[in-house]
Amino acid sequence: MDHQDVLLEVDDQGLAILTLNRPERRNALGATLVDALRGHVAALARDPGVRVVILTGQGDAAFCAGADLKERAQMGPEEVERFVGGLRAMMDEVAALPRPTIAAINGAALGGGCELALACDMRVAAAGASLGLPETHLGIIPGAGGTQRLPRLIGVALAKELIFTGRRVQADEAQAMGLVNRVAGPEGLIEACRRLAAPMLGAAPIALAQAKRAIDGGEGLSLAAGLTLEGECYAVTIPTSDRVEALAAFQEKRRPVFKGR
Ligand code: COA
Repeated sequence: MDHQDVLLEVDDQGLAILTLNRPERRNALGATLVDALRGHVAALARDPGVRVVILTGQGDAAFCAGADLKERAQMGPEEVERFVGGLRAMMDEVAALPRPTIAAINGAALGGGCELALACDMRVAAAGASLGLPETHLGIIPGAGGTQRLPRLIGVALAKELIFTGRRVQADEAQAMGLVNRVAGPEGLIEACRRLAAPMLGAAPIALAQAKRAIDGGEGLSLAAGLTLEGECYAVTIPTSDRVEALAAFQEKRRPVFKGR
């Protein structure tokens, strides 16, 4: 059977759903899965028809159980270092996708799985999902963005608490601390993500990409430098035909049709 570690579907509105597909290993980040995910992310970044990306895991048990600890046990120190380098690159590629990204956290998001969710722009959790960074209890530290992205999202003190204790937080607590944007209601996780994504599918793609660039690039800058970056990002939108289309649609009292140009 042709087993695919990552599945991709894209609908006619440009909503892409990437599904980590190793439920028997709780969608752990094995070498084949990492390669497949990097390949899909590179292709999505090049595809102008894709407007929003949802990343989820197969099954109810786990979004992603982090590094594949069975594979890891077979690796020597140099191989581990090389593999973690690839994992870091994958997280950075996900974070750099010039589209809004939503992690649909269907179950446990642990270690690298939690870091993968953190590399997305937004997170929606199923009611029974949980998130945690247990690395210090495995003799390592979060090595694919966790020590950097988590404190930026929820603050230094809470990030230290979660990383030092390795404690897993349930969906409701994760929402209260700002770790997830929403907890899905009875409509189901993917439906909740679709509802979140719907207005973004109707927005101008270049504007979304530049808003993301301005927000992400502004982190850590002085206000003055951030405002300069915002000006540069705004300037990219001025010559676009989508901007002209929005003005025409306003005059004509209709919805704009954006083409990403
Ligand atoms: N790497 C490799 N295999 C993993 C894995 C991982 N990170 N996480 C789970 N698996 C495997 C288990 O070994 C088990 O395989 P087996 O059937 O051959 O014994 C299978 O997936 C199911 O795991 P199980 O623990 O029975 O599933 P669960 O639904 O009860 O619990 C988790 C799911 C994710 C909560 C639990 O598996 C877990 O805590 N995993 C480890 C998470 C972790 O510490 N990750 C590393 C972070 S650095």
